Amino acid sequence: MDSNLAVLLAIVVVCVACTTPPAFAQTVQVWSECSPQNYTALSAYGTSLRRMLKDVIDAAVSGGGYAANDAGVAHGLAICYADARPEVCRLCLGMAAGNLSLACPRAMGAAMLYNNCLLRYADAPFLARPDMNQEFSFYNPNMTSAGDAAQFGTALSRLMDRLGLAAATAAASSSRGRRFAFGQTNITGDDSLYAFVQCVDDLSPDDCRRCLQSIAESLPMTRGGRAYSLTCYTRFEVVPFYRPPNATSLVVVASPAPAPASALLPTESRGE
Ligand SMILES: *[C@@H]1O[C@H](CO)[C@@H](O)[C@H](O)[C@H]1NC(C)=O
Ligand SMILES: *[C@@H]1O[C@H](CO)[C@@H](O)[C@H](O)[C@H]1NC(C)=O
Ligand SMILES: *[C@@H]1O[C@H](CO)[C@@H](O)[C@H](O)[C@H]1NC(C)=O
Ligand SMILES: *[C@@H]1O[C@H](CO)[C@@H](O)[C@H](O)[C@H]1NC(C)=O
Ligand SMILES: *[C@@H]1O[C@H](CO)[C@@H](O)[C@H](O)[C@H]1NC(C)=O
Repeated sequence: MDSNLAVLLAIVVVCVACTTPPAFAQTVQVWSECSPQNYTALSAYGTSLRRMLKDVIDAAVSGGGYAANDAGVAHGLAICYADARPEVCRLCLGMAAGNLSLACPRAMGAAMLYNNCLLRYADAPFLARPDMNQEFSFYNPNMTSAGDAAQFGTALSRLMDRLGLAAATAAASSSRGRRFAFGQTNITGDDSLYAFVQCVDDLSPDDCRRCLQSIAESLPMTRGGRAYSLTCYTRFEVVPFYRPPNATSLVVVASPAPAPASALLPTESRGE
C-alpha cells in the first residue's frame, strides 16, 4: 500500500512540472553512417528498400515508437526513444528518412541517429548486436550545483543501476515488453535527479544491462545530457523532462541516508 501510494505521489510530482527544457526542444542529427557498398539505380533492392523504410516508419509512429522489419531483402529498424512525445516521433523519423536518403543515396545499408530517434537499414539482419558499441553523447555544458560532486555521482550511479535492471527485466517479463524505464532519485533533500533508459527490443537482458552500464560509466557531473549507442540510450536531467506512460515503467529510488536503504520498484515491491 505504502509503496503504491509513494509511486502515485511521485508521478503527480513529476508531471506537475512536466515541461521540456528548451535546450532539448529541437530535433537534431547526432550521427550517420553509410555502408560503402551501393546498389544500382532502378534495382529491385532500391524499390523494396524505399517501401520497407516507409512501412517501418509508419509502423513505429503508429505502434508506440518502435518497429523492426526483417521480412524482405532490406531489413529495417525505426525507434523513437520513449521519452519523446508521439508528435516528436513522427517529425524525427521523417527527418531521419529524408536526410538518410540525401546522405546515403544508394547505400546498401545506412544508419542515422537523431536526438529523439534512430533509423537503420541493411541488406542483412543486424538487430541486437552487442558488439556495436560506438557511443555518442550530448551533455549540458553546466556542471551540477546540486549537492557536492560525490553526492551527485552517487545518486547518478544509483539511479542508472536500478534503471538498467528495470529495463532489462521489463523486457524479460513480457513478450510485448518495451525495454525502457523512467526513474527519479534524490541527490540531496531538495534536489532531484531524473533519468530515462532504453534498449533496442531485441537485445538480451544481459546485453541491455551491459550496454547501459557501459554508457553510465562515462556520464559526467553535468546538469543533464544524453548518451547513445546503437543499441541503448540514456538521458538524465536535474529537472523533470518526461511523462511516464504508467506506474509500471517508473522507478523511484530512495536515497540511502538518512532514510533506510530500501527502494520502491513498482513491479518488484509487492513482496518486500
Ligand atoms: C557509393 O556511392 C557514394 C556516393 O553516393 C560514393 O562516394 C562511394 O564511393 C560509392 N561506393 C562504391 C563502393 O562505389
Ligand atoms: C534534415 O534534418 C534537419 C535537422 O537535422 C531538418 O531541418 C531537415 O528538414 C531534414 N531534411 C530532410 C530532407 O528531411
Ligand atoms: C548554463 O548556465 C548559464 C549561466 O547560468 C545559462 O545562461 C545557460 O543557459 C546554461 N546552459 C544550459 C544549457 O542550461
Ligand atoms: C504500462 O507500461 C508498460 C510499458 O510501456 C506496458 O507494458 C504496460 O502494459 C502498461 N500498463 C498499463 C496498465 O497500461
Ligand atoms: C526526497 O527527499 C524528500 C525531502 O527530503 C523526501 O520527502 C522524499 O521522500 C525523498 N524521496 C526519495 C525517493 O528518496
